[in-house]
Amino acid sequence: MTDLPHTLPGTLARVWDMLEAGVADRTAPARHPVLATVGQDGGAEARMVVLRGLDRDAGSVEVHTDSASNKVQEIATNPSCSMLIWDQEQQFQIRLRTLISLAPGTPEDWDRIPDTARRAYGGTPAPGIEIDDPADHDPTPDFRRFTILTARIDAIETLNLGPDLHRRAVFLRNDGFAGAWLAP
Ligand SMILES: Cc1cc2nc3c(=O)[nH]c(=O)nc-3n(C[C@H](O)[C@H](O)[C@H](O)COP(=O)(O)O)c2cc1C
Repeated sequence: MTDLPHTLPGTLARVWDMLEAGVADRTAPARHPVLATVGQDGGAEARMVVLRGLDRDAGSVEVHTDSASNKVQEIATNPSCSMLIWDQEQQFQIRLRTLISLAPGTPEDWDRIPDTARRAYGGTPAPGIEIDDPADHDPTPDFRRFTILTARIDAIETLNLGPDLHRRAVFLRNDGFAGAWLAP
């Protein structure tokens, strides 16, 4: 992990390192980003997800979900989404502006998921449907509802709450993530 986000390259390196750690380590701050979408009624929607993959070369991250969840409908309508990460220890915030594409999960991906975790994909009735009691839900997994969200990162904004000063930076895909400082 880069210790000193006092330069633009160091700040960007820290972002990629944090995302990589989030995929590999259940306890890393980037393990559970908040994913924000535009709701079907036009309102903002936010929820936590698990970071499942990072492709540094492509500049994208991966999240898994249930095709019947509201977020999938929302993303199909409007793929512009944000992801938010906070590292309490390093006092470091990452905001990702992303464009998400949806794809069915592959049998190879499915094979890697433990039985208990497969319950996150499937279940009757579908997520968000009103039920009389929490026990009135059959959590039987359904591979056909296993969905991959690939979030192409178009902009990265960081904020480091330093003891001396606050450092805010932005890195844009369309200028090669070169980076610029912003007033905090
Ligand atoms: C720690 C944590 C991790 C979660 N990870 C995921 C995830 O990886 N994918 C997912 O679809 N939902 C995940 N959820 C559940 C979502 O936050 C959300 O409640 C659910 O997906 C329904 O959201 P929606 O109705 O907006 O689609 C997670 C929730 C928590 C608390």
